[in-house]
Amino acid sequence: MTMQTPGTSTSAPVFSQRRDWAADNVVGFMMKQAVDHPECISLAAGLVDPKTLPVEVTRQAAERMLGDDSMARTGLQYGTTEGSQRLRDLLLEYLAGLEETSVGELGIDRDQLMLSTGSQQMLALLCEAVLDPGDICLIADPTYYVMLGTVTGLGARAVAVDADEDGMRIDSLEQTLESLDGDGLLERVKMIYVVSDFDNPRSVSLAVERRQSLVEIAESFSDRQRMLVVEDAAYRELYFDGSPRPSAWGFDEDGQTVALVQTFSKCFSPGLRVGFGVLPPDLVGPVRDLKGNQDFGSASFNQHLLATVLEDGLFDGHVEGLRETYSAKRDVLANAATEHLGDLEGVDWLVPGGGLYVWMTVPEHVDAGFGGSLFNRAVEQEQVMYVPGDLCYIGVDGVRPRNRLRLSFGVEDADRLAEGMSRLARAIRAEL
Ligand SMILES: Cc1ncc(COP(=O)(O)O)c(C=O)c1O
Repeated sequence: MTMQTPGTSTSAPVFSQRRDWAADNVVGFMMKQAVDHPECISLAAGLVDPKTLPVEVTRQAAERMLGDDSMARTGLQYGTTEGSQRLRDLLLEYLAGLEETSVGELGIDRDQLMLSTGSQQMLALLCEAVLDPGDICLIADPTYYVMLGTVTGLGARAVAVDADEDGMRIDSLEQTLESLDGDGLLERVKMIYVVSDFDNPRSVSLAVERRQSLVEIAESFSDRQRMLVVEDAAYRELYFDGSPRPSAWGFDEDGQTVALVQTFSKCFSPGLRVGFGVLPPDLVGPVRDLKGNQDFGSASFNQHLLATVLEDGLFDGHVEGLRETYSAKRDVLANAATEHLGDLEGVDWLVPGGGLYVWMTVPEHVDAGFGGSLFNRAVEQEQVMYVPGDLCYIGVDGVRPRNRLRLSFGVEDADRLAEGMSRLARAIRAEL
């Protein structure tokens, strides 16, 4: 036997199949663009505004938490895989508030509410719990592009369902299911994924009557093929007018069909990485087992910090302030679009009622896609960055529209948003 000195191996490392499926990670590419072009005004980053981060509120909560020896020690110790009981109890109340009901009326056990590291981890765990290679997840197109990577990273397939300004089209969902059934593929359909409120990338919400129909359709197939509806409500709290909408999860009367996934990243602080899922009872064990293998529990400290914020009544005022800030920034970006692009035929955008994004369409002959001439011109000549809309599409037979742009009013301040839109408009005019 020959001994090998560490670091001298010449054989190629053997990677897993999952590593191949996870290649071409889009989020990594966009992060790199931002790092490579720090001079750019970023209408790309889906981050929250750094000025809105709850520094003072968190400081107060941290002082109380660390000032109490027992609470501090609990936060600094390992927690449980499903997360802090204290926070989960507070989240039942929080959820009841959003659903405009009481904790008792929610009809769930505390065990069904599981904490995760951001909501992204819960989405990934649900996919792992349900999808095998070759399985199908139906998704309203376009969608949150990280989820596309999560699904395909497991060797599963994302299949597009058409969406309009009221979210996933129910007729398209039915047709897609019929056509998959006709192709003998119904038994591979394991999941339907929707972002119900102010989605990413379009800030479009699923109409309330469609929420009910979605659940009914999934239920109606359950004797032939169980489909889990994953409702991602990451932007639920960021409504600019009115009040939160009832979730699709709320229409799932027997509690077997919908997993509701939420996060404190958008409405409080992404740095805490606190998200949660409300799961059908039979998914609790499988998701807990998978999470146990990954991390046996998300950061206990952050969970107790957030619990203190909620307990001390520090959350509501913060999120109200956020709604005001973001709706004012939405106005700045939308008004700048009208000022600089309002006269152009074929250039349109959606003015959202919440969330962080404005979705823009340019004439079809303009290549706004990844690596296309508008993107390159915007980044290199005008120093403004956006997310090419094609990255958010599943597409049909590999064809994705390349004339859409996701513009975020999250990170930049009002002056830079207006300047960013003026630069982008120059780039668009030059391409016409
Ligand atoms: C639609 C949607 N869902 C989920 C997430 C995940 O966020 P987090 O893991 O920070 O909760 C994001 C992040 O941008 C998102 O846009």
